Order: sequence, then structure tokens, then C-alpha cells
Amino acid sequence: MVKKITVLSGDGIGPEIIKEAIKVLDKVCALYGHRFEYTYVDIGGCSIDKYGVPITDKGMTLCKSADAVLLGAVGGPKWDSCPPSIRPEKALLAVRKELGLFANLRPTRLFSQLSGASPLKPAVIEGGIDLVIVRELTGGVYFGARSTKEENGELVAHDDMNYSVHEIERIGRVAFETAMKRRKKLASVDKANVLDTSRLWRKVMHELSAEYPEVEYSDVLVDSTAMQLIRNPATFDVLVTENMFGDILSDEASMLTGSIGMMPSASLSSGTQGMYEPIHGSAPDIAGQNLANPIGTILSAAMMLRYSFGMATEADAIENAVDAVLTDGYRTGDIYSEGMKRVSCTEMGTLVANYLK
Ligand code: IPM
Ligand code: MG
Repeated sequence: MVKKITVLSGDGIGPEIIKEAIKVLDKVCALYGHRFEYTYVDIGGCSIDKYGVPITDKGMTLCKSADAVLLGAVGGPKWDSCPPSIRPEKALLAVRKELGLFANLRPTRLFSQLSGASPLKPAVIEGGIDLVIVRELTGGVYFGARSTKEENGELVAHDDMNYSVHEIERIGRVAFETAMKRRKKLASVDKANVLDTSRLWRKVMHELSAEYPEVEYSDVLVDSTAMQLIRNPATFDVLVTENMFGDILSDEASMLTGSIGMMPSASLSSGTQGMYEPIHGSAPDIAGQNLANPIGTILSAAMMLRYSFGMATEADAIENAVDAVLTDGYRTGDIYSEGMKRVSCTEMGTLVANYLK
């Protein structure tokens, strides 16, 4: 199969981790007879430096025309003082919106080989951690109207949060369908004791739950969920939530597994197009030193094969290769522990590629 992939390496460790994911994808091509055509587009700080904008119109068009987009990471202290309209993150939000990527899947799994890396006590993680956060990605306070104006002699800032029934319903369906393929448990996370958007969210989710009688459904408040994730993470299977709650909870959940460097994500549209990226950031402190963990990006590439290209066997092969590399004791710095074999970013990519079957 021939597939067009637009590659957004981005800033900081972005280019290093992307290179390793491409190494693994090329090996998939060699083993399974596919052809992936890569088009590289600048995004974030590197694009601001070159063109004055975090992504060019031409770059955006190349994202729209691809079968899938693979992203490293954007941003860094160098661009922190950019005006809001051209910040590196702005490009990421624009790609999500323009491509209609409303469903963000963030799987969080504790690899048994890395259980020592979790900050939680062994008794708490005994039941395992294997959950997926389904985050709404193109609505809510991220995309509402924003302003800062003088009112009664002082500055007042506004950020509007909106959700319509159809926005809630389509993400709800993705979540129920995801639960049906897993342990059939869904927690919808909201703040319905305070917010109108959450009350509408809860109403729509309740209506949907009637269509999925096999799914054990519950509504939970976001503050209590933040606590339960630490106290009893094994109770969760699929969580569905609005944009900002999902942003916060997914960072919290990733730490349960010891390293944010392991975690992939998929941002999906109503078609097969998607954008795939590790959930960590650009890690400027270790950029250019060959220290980054490329596994989150490699697993994101596996999600791309599964969700956008329908290549489930190939995706499984990548995930199994990662598992085997960890079982054999290879570790990048972020997941290193006594007695293991410490490897660089490039060595980790090569290992996963070599372990592919
Ligand atoms: C994420 C990131 C982004 C977000 C930032 C970089 C805008 O934190 O993908 O979780 O808030 O969505
Ligand atoms: Mg985030």
C-alpha cells in the first residue's frame, strides 16, 4: 500500500524522536511491502524563525492532503515571549481544527517491565494500569472567544467555553465504541455541579448510554477523578472528557506509568485521516543530545498504522517489538534503573526496528 505522511518534526527533541519513528516505519515497509511517502513541513518555533508564522498556508495544505500526519513536539523557551497569535502551540491547535481532529485518544498503560518506574506504591498498581482517555479536541475553552479588556478601570480577561449537542455526541460515540472494543467500562468526566457545558455533556452522554447497554457507564466529577486516578487507577478503562479536563488528566495519568516519554496519542477526524504524536513536549533541556525516549513517537506511528491505514498486523508488530526490547532490558535515561542496559535515542530506534518481525 502507498500512503502519504506529512511529517511535522517541530522543535526541541522533535526531530530526534521523529527520525527513530521513521526508521521503524521504513522497516515496516521493507517487511510488509508498503510504501510510505514522507513530506516534511516546519511547525512551531522552527517555522516562526524561518517564516514568521508557526505554520505556513502551504504547510497546512500539505497536512490536509496527507493520509496521516506524524508530529514530534512544538515550542520551547525561545518562543515563550511570542505574541499569542504566533505562538508555536497556535499551529498545533490550527491543525487540529482545520483537519477536524475532534477525537484525541490517549492510551495509558503501565508496561509490566517498568512497574518500578511508577511513582505509585506497588500495592496501588497491583491491579495494573491500562486506560484510555478520550479527549474532545476541537471545542471547549480552547476554541471559544477570548479577550482582555479594560472594564471599570481594570483589565478583565475572558475565555468562553462552549459545547453543542453534536460536538458532545460525536466524541461520546467514539468513547462508547472504544469501550466496546476494550473492557466495556466508560467514565464520563465533567463538572456538572458547576458548569452548564458539563450539564449538557452529561445529558447527551446519558442518552447515548441507552444505545450501548453493554457498556458499564458512569458520570464522575473531574476533581474526584483526579484523585481516583492516583488512589485506584485500575478501576478505569475508558474515560471521556472535554478538551481542557482531558489535557490535564492525561498528563496526570501518564505519570502513573513512570515516564511521559512512553505515551502515544492519536487525534482522529470523522474519516480515516488523523494526526499522531507522543503526548510529551519538546524537552528543550535534553534536545540535541541523543537522550530522548523515542518510544512514545514509535507507538504513535503504530497507532497511525492501526487507525488511519487499517494495518492492524503491522501496528501489533511494532507494539510487540517495543515490548520485547523492554523485556530484554534496554532503557533510555528516563526509564533507566539499576542493572538495565542504558541506550541512546538512536540506539532505541534501531533496536525496535531490528526486533520487528
Ligand atoms: C497537549 C498539549 C497542547 C494542548 C498544547 C501544546 C497546546 O499540552 O497536546 O496536551 O494543551 O492541547
Ligand atoms: Mg497537554
